[in-house]
Amino acid sequence: MQDTVSVVILAAGLGTRMRSKLAKVLHRAGGACLLEHVVRAARTVAAPGHITAVIGHQAEQVQAEVAGHGIGFVLQTEQKGTGHALRMCDGQPGLNAGRVVVLYGDCPLLSAGTIQRLLQAHEQLGQAATVITTHLAEPKGYGRIVRDEAGRVAAIVEEKAANAEQKRLTEINSGIYCFEASLLWPYLAKVTPNPASGEYYLTDVVELMRADGQHTMPLVIEDASELLGINTKVELAEVDCIFRGRKTRQLMLAGVTIEQPETVTVDLDVEAAADSVLEPFVQLRGRTRIGEGSVIGACSILTNAVIGTEVKVFPFTSISDSELRDGAEVGPYARLRMGAVVEEAAHIGNFVELKNTKLGRGSKAMHLAYLGDSEIGAKVNIGAGTITCNYDGQKKHKTLIGDGAFVGSNSTLVAPAEIGEGSYVAAGSVVTKPVPADALGIGRGQQVNKEGWAAARRAKK
Ligand code: UD1
Ligand code: CA
Repeated sequence: MQDTVSVVILAAGLGTRMRSKLAKVLHRAGGACLLEHVVRAARTVAAPGHITAVIGHQAEQVQAEVAGHGIGFVLQTEQKGTGHALRMCDGQPGLNAGRVVVLYGDCPLLSAGTIQRLLQAHEQLGQAATVITTHLAEPKGYGRIVRDEAGRVAAIVEEKAANAEQKRLTEINSGIYCFEASLLWPYLAKVTPNPASGEYYLTDVVELMRADGQHTMPLVIEDASELLGINTKVELAEVDCIFRGRKTRQLMLAGVTIEQPETVTVDLDVEAAADSVLEPFVQLRGRTRIGEGSVIGACSILTNAVIGTEVKVFPFTSISDSELRDGAEVGPYARLRMGAVVEEAAHIGNFVELKNTKLGRGSKAMHLAYLGDSEIGAKVNIGAGTITCNYDGQKKHKTLIGDGAFVGSNSTLVAPAEIGEGSYVAAGSVVTKPVPADALGIGRGQQVNKEGWAAARRAKK
């Protein structure tokens, strides 16, 4: 099939200039690792079976990060240059016909639209290869594009090998190419190690093909920001900032109100409905979903949170892997984690922690409480300072609280605990036995008043 599009992503390098133990493509920007962004862009032009990533450093982790896409992997155990990396894919099924697009795993801002433009240009120009180039005011560090009299690419010269005149060229190699597969593989096999560095340069195929009258055409892209490759943590932060800006802009255009968007951090896969509001310094991480009309208060951090409609999250609240149903209110300073569920119109106040706990419809826990491994019914009132003692040092135990129960302030519920429907627990109780439905459970020392004791003590002095 002549029109098959395959994509190879070069992602084997460590990235020495990151000064990190972590392989470069595993660093994160915009809420996903660098390679994830590139794979997503690749998926818009090729089927998973036609996408191959060349991996090397921390290959297992890299593979695990993007495993969900179903793409192929090829191992480059020693990193001997971009030409060597691509050569690892020679003979891979699916890569020997049609066109092969080469992308770099450390170039995550590249858009689907630009890859489409590359494919269209390649089609129209009808030559052996097309390379994306751009003009940079500071081209230092990049391969320079040397053009021939007809405007074709005569050679790509690396910074280290460039002479003074070539160093003045401002048109640079993005590292993004489209090749005719039938020409790429035979010419790539002819690339020899660069005498200075000992590396196999993919860019050398340009001159090798040209010697046989097979040409490479440049596609100049004006907006260089998409071509930004990450080499240092400074560039990582810059790219992260661009992703954050793209995401908040996209949400605002879809009707989300964002106050001081430059302070708000939203990961790639987050969804928020129209007329939801994000106050300053909010972070929405992972697969968080925000329903219509919900307000996320300043400085709250939500990770994999599912928020219904008309929910109020007051400032400084932390929510992870938990759910707030329609009309719920939580915070300020609340913490919900590990599968907490706050049902419709239930309220959680300040300094209340819920762990793996369901709080039923219309129930309230307004101040200073820890509710762990509990199932709490509807219209329950949890008094200030209530603690579920869910851990005995070895195992976790459950607490069940029936509909309409009233747990007095500063109660200690020793799990496994059962508080029956419509029952009361007296304030300050330590509950170690089940409280039956509609009963009053009192578990505390009895108060004794000694008449005149204080006056007598004063008189002694
Ligand atoms: C390369 C280009 C340069 C271009 C620049 C654009 C060559 C020789 N040079 O230089 O013309 O301007 O990109 O950013 O191609 N990789 C491997 N295995 C290896 C070597 C590299 O997988 O053995 C991967 C890296 O992980 C990275 C990509 O290839 O994702 C680019 O490698 P890098 O070393 O950063 O190339 P540059 O020196 O930047
Ligand atoms: Ca690079």
